[in-house]
Amino acid sequence: ESIFDEAFVNALVNADRLYYRLGVHPEFDMRLFRLFHQAMRRLGRTGRPLWPIHDPNEFLGEMRVVKSKAEVERLQIAANISAEAHANAMQLSKPGMHEYEVEAALFHAFRAAGAGRLGYPSIVASGPNACVLHYNQNDRRMQEKDLLLIDAGAEFDFYTADITRVCPVSGKFTEPQREIYQAVLNAQKDCIRIARPGKSMRDIHNHAVEVLVEELKKLKILKGPTKQIIAKELYRPYYPHGTGHWLGMDVHDVGRYYSRDYDNPRKLEPGCVFTIEPGLYFGPDSPCPAKYKGIGVRIEDDIVITNQGCKVLTSAVPKEVDEIESLCSQP
Ligand code: GLY
Ligand code: MN
Ligand code: MN
Repeated sequence: ESIFDEAFVNALVNADRLYYRLGVHPEFDMRLFRLFHQAMRRLGRTGRPLWPIHDPNEFLGEMRVVKSKAEVERLQIAANISAEAHANAMQLSKPGMHEYEVEAALFHAFRAAGAGRLGYPSIVASGPNACVLHYNQNDRRMQEKDLLLIDAGAEFDFYTADITRVCPVSGKFTEPQREIYQAVLNAQKDCIRIARPGKSMRDIHNHAVEVLVEELKKLKILKGPTKQIIAKELYRPYYPHGTGHWLGMDVHDVGRYYSRDYDNPRKLEPGCVFTIEPGLYFGPDSPCPAKYKGIGVRIEDDIVITNQGCKVLTSAVPKEVDEIESLCSQP
């Protein structure tokens, strides 16, 4: 009998409830049930009922939604390490290199700067691979006219960053690439502008959709009344994902996105940390004009809500068109 089993049975006979998440590790569930039986035998004929089991997920999630100062400090360090690695990766990417070389450079930069490990598997997606949402084979050879999408984050002291940047491998955006990049950047910056206490993740997503739809109309990729496009979700072929998620010890951190009764979107408050990551994707089967085919752009920063507004933890890595071009055209 292990020390754990003994200690668990002793604790259980004196407890009035157990917090445990059933169903995640079925073998461990079975072990606990056996220990329940031992605890019941220990209690004997006292008439005591079985102890209720509560799922702690919600409580633990709630403890993690609003970050303490110490947590934000760690997230800032993870963000700084990741920002520097991204800038370096954009600079060294050249036509003819393989995606995995960039992946390795990111990992080297993370570890050399003191990161414990990756926050999640790095996505290094050149050309049309950027349209594959969770691509991480990272084995394509990069071509002259490719965009390169890098989604990578370092973990520092158990807290992770989550950054996406897109750059032209050759150092210069083509005209259609620049149009799409600028459209996503406009949406991303406008979402950051509205992020403040009292807004919800839902508000930010709705705002991203509105700006992206306007941009797609300007580029003649969508037409018709904005309201109708949104109601019919006609933007979904180009923007099939959400605009952000909680960020912390997990890259997709835990915690409710809704009010306690799960009826209303939760209002952001100082200390909430999350990503803002709109994108536009035009895969091979996209119903878009031909000149946009194969373009995939997402721009992702990490945000902490402050008393008045928000702070961008990942602002050290550039995202304006001219900044990106000058970074990527360096030898
Ligand atoms: N890298 C995972 C995400 O952006 O959600
Ligand atoms: Mn993300
Ligand atoms: Mn990401």
